[in-house]
Amino acid sequence: KKVVLAYSGGLDTSVIVKWLQETYNCEVVTFTADIGQGEEVEPARAKAQALGVKEIYIEDLREEFVRDYVYPMFRANTIYEGEYLLGTSIARPLIARRLIEIANQTGADAISHGATGKGNDQVRFELGAYALKPGVKVIAPWREWDLTSREKLMAYCQQHDIPVDFTSQKKKSPYSMDANLLHISYEGGILEDPWAEAEEDMWRWSVSPEAAPDAPTYVELTYEKGDIVALDGVPMKPHEVLEKLNKLGGDNGIGRLDIVENRYVGMKSRGCYETPGGTIMLRAHRAIESLTLDREEAHLKDQLMPKYAEVIYNGYWWSPERRMLQAAIDETQKNVSGVVRLKLYKGNVIVAGRQSKQSLFDESIATFEDDAGAYDQKDAEGFIKLNALRLRIAAGKGRQQD
Ligand code: ARG
Ligand code: SIN
Repeated sequence: KKVVLAYSGGLDTSVIVKWLQETYNCEVVTFTADIGQGEEVEPARAKAQALGVKEIYIEDLREEFVRDYVYPMFRANTIYEGEYLLGTSIARPLIARRLIEIANQTGADAISHGATGKGNDQVRFELGAYALKPGVKVIAPWREWDLTSREKLMAYCQQHDIPVDFTSQKKKSPYSMDANLLHISYEGGILEDPWAEAEEDMWRWSVSPEAAPDAPTYVELTYEKGDIVALDGVPMKPHEVLEKLNKLGGDNGIGRLDIVENRYVGMKSRGCYETPGGTIMLRAHRAIESLTLDREEAHLKDQLMPKYAEVIYNGYWWSPERRMLQAAIDETQKNVSGVVRLKLYKGNVIVAGRQSKQSLFDESIATFEDDAGAYDQKDAEGFIKLNALRLRIAAGKGRQQD
């Protein structure tokens, strides 16, 4: 029997390789992806080889990740519970899809991952896997084994000759972290006390707003059908755009977030996130939509957004409801093209200008000056009176409330 494991090359997933081989007496195939986590993926090859793995998949999925997952999500201005930009949530469907594709290619009947039994990630990996391969077996070691502490994990390494890099173990961050091109997240450690402020040196991608430069940075984003296609007039691929915006945002103290969120499994959890590029993209996308979307279209889209966010957060990317919402959202983006000019300054993303050939903004109508007959102010009288009718009837019947 064969199992495909989402393998980071780190200590935990290395233990999982050995544990799967032993416990299930199976062939392990490893899959390691570069989705912009900022760590070399190639070293995972030698590590997997040393563990006796014969089929090793190492892939650069940065472009696909941003093009097919991050960009579609940003078309909806998606945020979970009013704040979280879903940096981890949106990467899981891609990993799930590749795990299943590799399982099909290698003739494996199972997949495995290193997510704990308390989190959202297990749900996302597994819902995705079942949606794409209904008969797949899932092995989640953290829900099964008794290696519940660092000490036990280390003892297991010693018993099984798994090389432990002690200097990197010592330097190991006290947080549970997850990084990709969209964000880096921190949970656990002192953050488990919602009252405790995160230490300044926890943050890895951004300077604090206080330490950001005194001079603002301007940047122009060019949109085509809801997606950014160029920065300052230079055409770029989706992942290049996000890389560049992360840098500009991080340098200007943009994108830090500290929240308590509701996990799908039922508990509240405190997390800190850095999403510099995503924070810029969200503001800019709303600015270009403000010119190019019809009012009712925009408002309805905004009503769908929290549902769409929940679908992604809870792990239902590969679901009929997500496809349905995506089709509606994408339909609204046909005219969302143009340029947004932003000023980045000490943690703020300030819209300095927006323009579009598809703009619905009509200066001759909106003007406070004489509008040469485009809008007859007398029409407003009837408009207001008819809209007031039911209010007046209710008030006439004594329904007026304080
Ligand atoms: N709480 C966030 C989410 O559910 C981040 C999870 C981070 N995952 C991790 N394995 N550290 O999307
Ligand atoms: C985990 O790794 O399982 C914890 C993070 C989460 O999924 O919310």
